[in-house]
Amino acid sequence: VIDIRKLYAATGAFTFDPGFTSTASCESAITYIDGDEGVLLHRGYPIEQLAEQSSFMEVSYLLLNGELPSKGELEKFSNTITRHTMVHEQLAQFFRGFRRDAHPMAIMCGVVGALSAFYHDSTDINDPQQRLIASHRLIAKIPTIAAMAYQYSVGRPFVFPKNDLSYTANFMRMTFANPAEEYEVDPIVVDAMDKIFILHADHEQNASTSTVRLAGSSGANPFACIAAGIACLWGPAHGGANEAALNMLREIGTPDRIPEFIARAKNKDDPFRLMGFGHRVYKNFDPRAKVLSKAATEVLDKLGKNDPVLDTARELEQIALKDPYFIDKKLYPNVDFYSGVILSAIGFPTNMFTVLFALARTVGWVAQWNEMISDPGQKIGRPRQLYTGATQRDYVPVDKR
Ligand code: ACO
Repeated sequence: VIDIRKLYAATGAFTFDPGFTSTASCESAITYIDGDEGVLLHRGYPIEQLAEQSSFMEVSYLLLNGELPSKGELEKFSNTITRHTMVHEQLAQFFRGFRRDAHPMAIMCGVVGALSAFYHDSTDINDPQQRLIASHRLIAKIPTIAAMAYQYSVGRPFVFPKNDLSYTANFMRMTFANPAEEYEVDPIVVDAMDKIFILHADHEQNASTSTVRLAGSSGANPFACIAAGIACLWGPAHGGANEAALNMLREIGTPDRIPEFIARAKNKDDPFRLMGFGHRVYKNFDPRAKVLSKAATEVLDKLGKNDPVLDTARELEQIALKDPYFIDKKLYPNVDFYSGVILSAIGFPTNMFTVLFALARTVGWVAQWNEMISDPGQKIGRPRQLYTGATQRDYVPVDKR
């Protein structure tokens, strides 16, 4: 491994690496990915085991603290998060400033950024205790804000957190409850959502996490840094792909139209890509997609739903995996390919999918942000460039041009 800082100090040379395809921007002990083997570990634990046996609160604790919690530690952590689920009433008024048909990710960028105007007692980033409180607040309030964004979009009043429920059950109730009726939390749905949250919790230095780190490297307000991460996640090449993937599958409609879309994806003159396919790091398979592929069948079966889009997805995967174009370029389904089928069966509209990704990824963002701030060698992120513009020239007054 070349330490570029030493190379630069010795020679003045620096690397040109558009898209950071081969540049490590930091050292991290949180998440390990082996893209060739399809391995994803959080603090050493395989994602498959965490998705199967753990809970999102437990994984959140693990990402933040480095170790799985004891029973007592988990209870204490869950209680702390629960205590922070409410948002300031003035923050609730922010929503009224948005059009009801606004994309909920647009609302998330604005409202989460606005948290920085409220919690002044947790913004001294040099104080570990304040950093911890900011982290807890973010993890706790994001579900409340996400649920409010949904309720606002459908014209219903906000539902307050009910703190005897689990993190995920509370979120589902805040999102779907009608205040006039008692809301029954469906354990099948809560389990499926918890699994989806675990699978999205962290993914080392992806674009949105790098955005959070870069924003945070200047010492910026933590709530504003997470809003920056949300903005980056929204793009269709990143978290926005879950929405785009389901829209694509619905557009394909029936398996007989798959070849037409495969042909488009292979055509260099057509900007169309198979959404939910391909990954910068996974060149074998995305282990999260494997878990979700299995979960999609289980959840739809348990909910008694039969969505033809799942058949289209499975058929598309089979055809693509046998196609030399996808084989040569090592393009496999990623986490976004099957998640939409499950989220749609649960009742989320497609424009909420990326919001759910943001909710889960918040824990990864805050863990990575904390790791960066606590690193004594941390520097402001400041990439270099290769200048390609004009050479020096003299100014010409406008009447002489
Ligand atoms: N469909 C068709 N062709 C593709 C696809 C795709 N989904 N993905 C990549 N390719 C092709 C590219 O056209 C390129 O071909 P070329 O070498 O002939 O020019 C080659 O594969 C490599 O693609 P790059 O864009 O250079 O690969 P990169 O690592 O930069 O991109 C990315 C990865 C952005 C995920 C890409 O595969 C993509 O756009 N996929 C669709 C969007 C998506 O599903 N994003 C979610 C990613 S996971 C996440 O963020 C949670």
